[in-house]
Amino acid sequence: MDGQSINGGGAARPMLFEPLTIRGLTLKNRLVVPPMVHYRAEAGNTCGTFHVVHLGRYALGGFGLVFVEATAVEPVGLINEHDLGIWNDAQMESFKPLIAFMKRQGTAIGIQLAHGGRKASSQTAMQGMGPLTEENLKAGAKSWQPVGPTAEPVANGWLTPRQLTTAECKAMVGTWANAARHAVGAGFDTIEIHTAHGYLLASFLSPVSNTRNDEYGGDRAGRMRLPLEIAEAVRREMPDTMPLFVRVSAVDGTVEGWNLDDTVVFARELKARGVDVIDCSSGGISGSATAAQVPRSLGFQVPFAERVRTEAEIPTMAVGIILEAQQAERIVANRQADLIAIGRQSQFDPNIAHHWAHELGINTRFEDWSPEFGWWLEKRIRTLDGFATPTGVVTQRS
Ligand SMILES: Cc1cc2nc3c(=O)[nH]c(=O)nc-3n(C[C@H](O)[C@H](O)[C@H](O)COP(=O)(O)O)c2cc1C
Repeated sequence: MDGQSINGGGAARPMLFEPLTIRGLTLKNRLVVPPMVHYRAEAGNTCGTFHVVHLGRYALGGFGLVFVEATAVEPVGLINEHDLGIWNDAQMESFKPLIAFMKRQGTAIGIQLAHGGRKASSQTAMQGMGPLTEENLKAGAKSWQPVGPTAEPVANGWLTPRQLTTAECKAMVGTWANAARHAVGAGFDTIEIHTAHGYLLASFLSPVSNTRNDEYGGDRAGRMRLPLEIAEAVRREMPDTMPLFVRVSAVDGTVEGWNLDDTVVFARELKARGVDVIDCSSGGISGSATAAQVPRSLGFQVPFAERVRTEAEIPTMAVGIILEAQQAERIVANRQADLIAIGRQSQFDPNIAHHWAHELGINTRFEDWSPEFGWWLEKRIRTLDGFATPTGVVTQRS
């Protein structure tokens, strides 16, 4: 998009701020807060005031869609004891005030369903995101035996998982369906299935971690079986109008592991089962979720989103070091991805969606802000005429 077309005068809106309709859900813009765990669940792994305040800031900040962090589908799947869960009715009810608030602001709200697999019962990010240490345990951290495709741990020092039997894999499909039913009952607008970062479903996909010899292992079709059966089961629990996202590790970060060709095949299979958007992340199969096996640079995962979008012909979400409005606008305008997720930069600036609208030349009179803020800010432009830009940056001091 050129500079002229984004500078008001009735010109087209930047693509980033064009609405997007997926099934029955219309997002007011393409900006998304991706799932980000914060270890602030209330008793019983429920959602409380912290999440209303924390995620509510992004609704007031103008995002089109906000995802609740990785939320466990069963107790053994909690990545950390302080994570959210959605396997029972009390947890389902606990999300309702948050969902009501987000909807009142015109921001859609989704939930990432997750199972930690062999990385369950691990440290918080601030502790290092590795296996719990003696020191962590002495300080009261809760530990339990995780489950995985095999009894092989993530790496040296990690807990030894218990291998899921074939019957337990089949039951796992029902576990995810139960969580999806609770997510729908809570009123979420959309669901994301977490198949990335080395957690349970990623560990089934990758040949590095899945060396099973039953129907849930073996060749790529066998390794995809559990995630695909889960996608089908989750889809069945959702109304037709409700979009389904899947987060993938487009490459798992190992030479002999899951690669981008595999991801394209997986995305096609997911699409055939009613998945609507592929959220393209990477890495995590053999270390902490953030283990940097993929070189990190500005927009480093965008090529994954682009290739999946083109070759599997399915909408994608790009994520990973997307820091500036023009960068994000180029990604959607060049049709490399349909949605832009902003993680840490949204932690840095929860109003970033509004700020990027200003930077792209729209919303200069705060039209899209919640009126309790926008009315005052617009009035201030007039008060400070000659002293401040519409965005509040002071241009003259006398
Ligand atoms: C605090 C924090 C928590 C995260 N938790 C999750 C999570 O729950 N699920 C997930 O798939 N990714 C998680 N991630 C990864 C982010 O969703 C995102 O993919 C990553 O931060 C890269 O985007 P960024 O460079 O814009 O931050 C987390 C990242 C951060 C910073």
